[in-house]
Amino acid sequence: MDLALAGRTIAIAGSTAGIGSVLTTSLDREHVHLLLVGGRPERLNALAQTLSPEALTGIVPGDLRRESDRNRCTAALLGSPELDGFVFLPAELRPDAISEARSSEFRETFDVNVFSAFEFAQAALSRASSSASFVFVSSIDAHRHPHHTPSASYDSSKRALESISESVAVEAGFRGIRSNCIVPGLIRTPMTEDFFGHEFEADRRRFLDAVPLGRPGNPEDVADLIMFLLSPVSGYVNGTSIPVDGGFLCQGL
Ligand SMILES: NC(=O)c1ccc[n+]([C@@H]2O[C@H](COP(=O)([O-])OP(=O)(O)OC[C@H]3O[C@@H](n4cnc5c(N)ncnc54)[C@H](OP(=O)(O)O)[C@@H]3O)[C@@H](O)[C@H]2O)c1
Repeated sequence: MDLALAGRTIAIAGSTAGIGSVLTTSLDREHVHLLLVGGRPERLNALAQTLSPEALTGIVPGDLRRESDRNRCTAALLGSPELDGFVFLPAELRPDAISEARSSEFRETFDVNVFSAFEFAQAALSRASSSASFVFVSSIDAHRHPHHTPSASYDSSKRALESISESVAVEAGFRGIRSNCIVPGLIRTPMTEDFFGHEFEADRRRFLDAVPLGRPGNPEDVADLIMFLLSPVSGYVNGTSIPVDGGFLCQGL
């Protein structure tokens, strides 16, 4: 299927690792022009070296815990060429049960996972073309399930992100702009690498027993869904949150 992405301009936050780096490489293969915002400079530069020379319209490093860095990334989005897509992937994940969570850490998680998403999306909306597609990345942890180490700030931030995506879908739909959220299950990336170690073997087996497909996802499984949502081929898909979890959530766990 031709995704008709060639020549489109897409901004990606969170391109430097895991799902984001696979997505970036795949979009480059489709001849998309890319604006990469956020992430560590050395990682962004290393990624840029692997892309075709004409792919990049800009790279703007930034630690999204810092307001000044968020502002720099937002300014880059405000000054970007017209955008046909925006993808938000960065996330901070900490094991903070609600009984022990500290406000300062909760706030930091929200700075990265929610406020960056809001600020960047607002800026991207001001540059969005009449067929632009926004994609936000939530998590199964935003939805209650028992195979879960408490992570209250992450879980609530992801629920907020789903709501932000819905707001974009509802408010910008009249301009032809779509917004959707995806809800990954267990995907093997640097974020989850510890869980694939020997120490967590029993937990991992228990978790995978609850996944109908019986395996973790890989970054390509998720990147492919994002590509579809960015493409005009999904032109009537708007305001949804779509699991990509091997069937985990559909069991109503
Ligand atoms: N892997 C899973 O099982 C899973 C499951 C559900 C949802 N998700 C979601 O999928 C998305 C991508 O996750 P992943 O597994 O690909 O994670 P990853 O490999 O750890 O990559 C995370 C990305 O977020 C960026 N990031 C994190 N903190 C940042 C900060 N303070 N400032 C700027 N950038 C920051 C990282 O950039 P730098 O390292 O360059 O700073 C990196 O590009 C996340 O939203 C995650 O919540 C993942």
